Amino acid sequence: MAEPKTNAIERLARAMEAGRRDLAVMRVGGPVREITASAARVGGVSAFVRLGDRMGFTADGRTQIGEVVRIDGSGATVKPFESRIDVGIGARAHRIGPARLRPSPAWKGRVIDALGRPADGLGPLQEGAADVPLDADPPAAMTRARVRKPLPTGVRAMDLFTPLCAGQRIGIFAGSGVGKSTLLAMLAGAQGFDSVVVALVGERGREVREFLEGPIAAARERAVIVVSTGDESPMMRRQAPKVALAVAESFRDRGESVLLIVDSVTRYAHAARDVALAAGEPAVARGYPPSVFSDLPRLLERAGPGAEGAGTITGIFSVLVDGDDHNDPVADSIRGTLDGHVVLDRAIAEQGRYPAIDLLGSISRLAGEVWTGDQRELVRKLKSMMARFEETRDLRLMGGYRAGTDPELDQAITLVPRIYEAMRQEPGQAPSRDAFLELAQSLRG
Ligand SMILES: Nc1ncnc2c1ncn2[C@@H]1O[C@H](COP(=O)(O)OP(=O)(O)OP(=O)(O)O)[C@@H](O)[C@H]1O
Ligand SMILES: [Mg+2]
Repeated sequence: MAEPKTNAIERLARAMEAGRRDLAVMRVGGPVREITASAARVGGVSAFVRLGDRMGFTADGRTQIGEVVRIDGSGATVKPFESRIDVGIGARAHRIGPARLRPSPAWKGRVIDALGRPADGLGPLQEGAADVPLDADPPAAMTRARVRKPLPTGVRAMDLFTPLCAGQRIGIFAGSGVGKSTLLAMLAGAQGFDSVVVALVGERGREVREFLEGPIAAARERAVIVVSTGDESPMMRRQAPKVALAVAESFRDRGESVLLIVDSVTRYAHAARDVALAAGEPAVARGYPPSVFSDLPRLLERAGPGAEGAGTITGIFSVLVDGDDHNDPVADSIRGTLDGHVVLDRAIAEQGRYPAIDLLGSISRLAGEVWTGDQRELVRKLKSMMARFEETRDLRLMGGYRAGTDPELDQAITLVPRIYEAMRQEPGQAPSRDAFLELAQSLRG
């Protein structure tokens, strides 16, 4: 039955009679008072909106959506999800309410954008049963299950030297163009997950195509891919990982083992910086406002094990290290939150050894749960041999070492290049099944 037509005053009176405090029944709104390249000011709505609420701007029959990023006595600052707000002074903006998303298992196989809309041209998305928050709190530390179930990734170098467990969170740290996305794509094809959720943040359009057609292709029917390309607004790029986490959490709560991949967290941090600056926050560390450093751990903590008996989210996050400076504040903050980091090294990539993992500089804090006693001992020996090999590299190149002087070094000189060779893996190659066995075979051969 259609609602009888009423005016705003009548609706307000009815809502007040019913004792309803949520004034959402009203179309709360206000006039646009100021427009800049990055945001609009909406007057008079201060008391009715909350940070993070959505507001809509309607002009010429089209509605643009933005998010409230600042509220003060005279109004709210709203940042649009499109690159710019296409309305004039005096246009009305109305409150839509908190961001909502209704993920469904039917989304597997689909590509969506940062607002949860289909981005693959395959028609509308079926909605799930319940709203989930985009900014959920991570599960309380004490209720979380322990992380200890080994999880082979199929990437030989990682399964040997930085093995993962279900529910672990690990970062892939590297400068630009050293192979982060390629490694993530290989990891996305890992077996043993019920679902895969990928957020591609700030990628070039071409890279999105490449990703979809890469190693993930085999896992597409269990994958949800959230895409926000580099040409989209910072609001979209900031939102894409949140949407991916909300989708991953909804699968986790169904008891699934979820693989979450975010490429890259740095681009999320850049977008969060743009938004915080537009909201008037001061910059504190290398141009980053403080909220970026509280948002990052919050986001990363949402991945991980769920409550005892529930599903898990295993998180793999790529981190761009600006100018190969591994101590920039964003990389530092991310490294501190994660349970391990894999470092890719430009010098290794330049030798054509891909994936360009720095085997000595990468650690998985949960490797101890995966390796058997023998394996741990073997990895220790291999690492000390590699360290020996690397530290004498210059000396040997200059002809300062004569074979036969140091038997241990001689052994390293024969074996380490073979280990490196065995670690090589390209995206098109079959995933590794038993990394230790394969290494043993290539050392023997
Ligand atoms: N495993 C691999 N095997 C062969 N080549 C690789 C491998 N990984 C990376 N490469 C090469 O390195 C190039 C850059 O890789 P990729 O795009 O993954 O880097 P990136 O770190 O994600 O770069 P950006 O910082 O631009 O996002 C690829 O185009 C490819 O030529
Ligand atoms: Mg990349």
